Amino acid sequence: MISKGLESGFKRLRAFLAYNTDIDAVVRVSKRLEKFFSNDYRKAKNLQPNLISNKADLLAGILRCMESGIGDELEFSDYRFGYRLIKELGADELRMGGQAGIMSNLLATFGSEVIIFTKPLSREQALLFREGVLVPSPGNGLKLLPPEEAAHDRIRKVNWIFEFKRGDKLFDVTATGTTRFIVASRPPVNPLDHSEIEEYLPEIAERIDFAILSGYHDLKERYEDGTSWRKWLKKGKKLIKVMKETNPEILIQIEMGTTHKRVINRGILKEIVPLADSLSMDLHELSIVSGELGFEEPDRRKPEEVYRTMKEVQDKTGVPCLKLHTPHYFLTLSNNYLDRRILRKALLFARDVVSTKAIKGEIKSFKDLEISKRIRPSWRGYRVVKALQKISEGIYIIVPNKYVKKPKSTVGLGDAVSSSTFAVENILRLGYDREP
Ligand code: GLC
Repeated sequence: MISKGLESGFKRLRAFLAYNTDIDAVVRVSKRLEKFFSNDYRKAKNLQPNLISNKADLLAGILRCMESGIGDELEFSDYRFGYRLIKELGADELRMGGQAGIMSNLLATFGSEVIIFTKPLSREQALLFREGVLVPSPGNGLKLLPPEEAAHDRIRKVNWIFEFKRGDKLFDVTATGTTRFIVASRPPVNPLDHSEIEEYLPEIAERIDFAILSGYHDLKERYEDGTSWRKWLKKGKKLIKVMKETNPEILIQIEMGTTHKRVINRGILKEIVPLADSLSMDLHELSIVSGELGFEEPDRRKPEEVYRTMKEVQDKTGVPCLKLHTPHYFLTLSNNYLDRRILRKALLFARDVVSTKAIKGEIKSFKDLEISKRIRPSWRGYRVVKALQKISEGIYIIVPNKYVKKPKSTVGLGDAVSSSTFAVENILRLGYDREP
């Protein structure tokens, strides 16, 4: 049985999330793509794109990801390319995307009160939210509206997700891992511009227990109105400061995202992360972050190197809690953060959540989690636990994941880990798992 205490704890939690949501157009790699890309293959073989401007770039991105077996995310040079693909290629599925969107829906499914700030909020986007998610809207005082009522933007943000399983083939490339290639669109909107709710931030801060912030990696270096990323990151910094000043009791977690834009990564690490209580990422992001901070990228097959790099990132940014989620294990580093027992319980719960999501594709209720009891923790994860036993410096908690070999989908698994871990940390620190 999954803990009753946690089940009722979730219902007492109140969260604020921002910023990134989008419509994920999901395509599973299959023969159909060979036909679609038949004229692009020869060109794509020699490309190493950093930006996706045409079909050959797109194919090159997918093939490169399949070859390496490591998930990645690049951007469209023009967001409208994403719209055109809907007509030309068609998606297997359209669903909620963006870390803030995925995490909000999960928390709302477990019964928590969720307030989300996101831009652009189109009608199509709004329809992807689960019941219980509310959007702050300006009015006579703070109004919290169901997303459909608050949706005013005409621009839609559509990201493309090309998913594949280990062993899948596309032309002469065989996937060496089960993951996805994402192409994100950057419509002409400043996702971090929270001006319209600025005056209500203190009120929001008063009514929440924690905040999870993600999507800083969506920033562009320059905007159509002549402003640069600097201005918007500053604005993002202000949001955290106001919230923390109004309600010092809240905890804030940042979810790292994948971008290859160095200035943006550095800006996030320098300006945003030091203000947070917790930072969460996956292995690919850890490699990028360590490179940006001037450390050597860890060999992901060597757990001690991974640990050392995490320690360096934690020391350099000063963040009290650094979390890593990988397919086979989760690792939390703590420095003046919460009690170890809390951190461990949170990771144990997170693996039930993520394995349920991997099996079912979508979690519809707390009861769904029962299915995770059938999955055994990963032996590869246990090997990492063992390898780290030699480490004596620093406080860390490691838990093997309940790895599901053939997940329904891989997008959003990391978000499920991060948000459920952090939510449980908050439930336990606030005693919400006990009778009120
Ligand atoms: C990133 C992508 C988004 C995807 C999400 C999953 O935010 O931009 O498309 O849904 O990651 O974690």
